[in-house]
Amino acid sequence: MEILRTIGLKKYYGSGAGLVKALDGINMSIEEGEFAAVVGTSGSGKSTLLHMLGGLDYPTEGKVIVDGKDISAMKETELTIFRRRNIGFIFQNYNLVPVLNVYENVVLPLELDGEKPDREFVREVMETLGIYERQASMPNQLSGGQQQRVAIARALASKPAIILADEPTGNLDSRNSKEVMGLLKVTGEQFGQTIVMITHNEALAQLCSRVIRIEDGKIWKDGKNSAQNYGTGTQRHGFSGVREDGTAAKNMTEKRERTGVGADEQKAAENVTGRQQQNLTGKHAGEMAARNTWGGIRYEK
Ligand SMILES: Nc1ncnc2c1ncn2[C@@H]1O[C@H](COP(=O)(O)OP(=O)(O)OP(=O)(O)O)[C@@H](O)[C@H]1O
Ligand SMILES: [Mg+2]
Repeated sequence: MEILRTIGLKKYYGSGAGLVKALDGINMSIEEGEFAAVVGTSGSGKSTLLHMLGGLDYPTEGKVIVDGKDISAMKETELTIFRRRNIGFIFQNYNLVPVLNVYENVVLPLELDGEKPDREFVREVMETLGIYERQASMPNQLSGGQQQRVAIARALASKPAIILADEPTGNLDSRNSKEVMGLLKVTGEQFGQTIVMITHNEALAQLCSRVIRIEDGKIWKDGKNSAQNYGTGTQRHGFSGVREDGTAAKNMTEKRERTGVGADEQKAAENVTGRQQQNLTGKHAGEMAARNTWGGIRYEK
């Protein structure tokens, strides 16, 4: 099933002699469950493309259809809500909220949306990413790799239609890059998540199921990697926490309907709610409201 489509997508900046055609007619379609890499030289339009796909900015011309809805036609308020519910972002600089602990960061987009986190699902995600034990830690107590795993958990927790990642391993050393990339792939497969990821790293791009190359705001190559080449995350990376029999590979709809809450998560969640209410009604709430952002998480280019 197609989850994302762009039609004649253009984004121009400036005018006259200063006109920059950052995107110049992008037509692409992403199927549910795909893990697509977007590669291209610096300035080729990758980040601009991701902004358009995620509704962080409006195109100059053309359309972006996410899960059947034309987001380029949405008004700002509608778009903000749609974005929070349907799009998960992962950025190079993690963008965790420093005053919230790991668990609070993971469930923040849900809480901001007035939704109750699916605690069993959140626990499964955090366990797979190896951060469940660190749920009470603050972001500044974690390594870069761990912080990025929290950001991945946060993106997955709301079961978005699509996850968009802009150089998620850009701040990590090669060992952590491989590990984070492996986990992104494994969780993508495990939770049936569609992912579009920008990377400068050719080796990482080859681990994706598809590689889209853009140059001067146009697609100049778009090809699938053979399954043999990229394999499954479990086969290639052998991460623990992923069930070998594939029973965990349930789709998001099924996950949505799952219930059952462990006592410890219940407790953790109650604490979170109390603290978050404090945070969200205090100075922090004003700060967040002031940012015209997805889920209160500031986006910085
Ligand atoms: N807000 C803006 N105003 C004017 N020009 C912009 C703006 N944002 C991006 N551009 C220009 O659009 C082009 C594409 O930029 P973009 O950030 O998408 O590149 P990129 O492929 O992500 O590059 P990098 O690999 O360096 O991150 C560049 O020429 C850039 O200078
Ligand atoms: Mg960029």
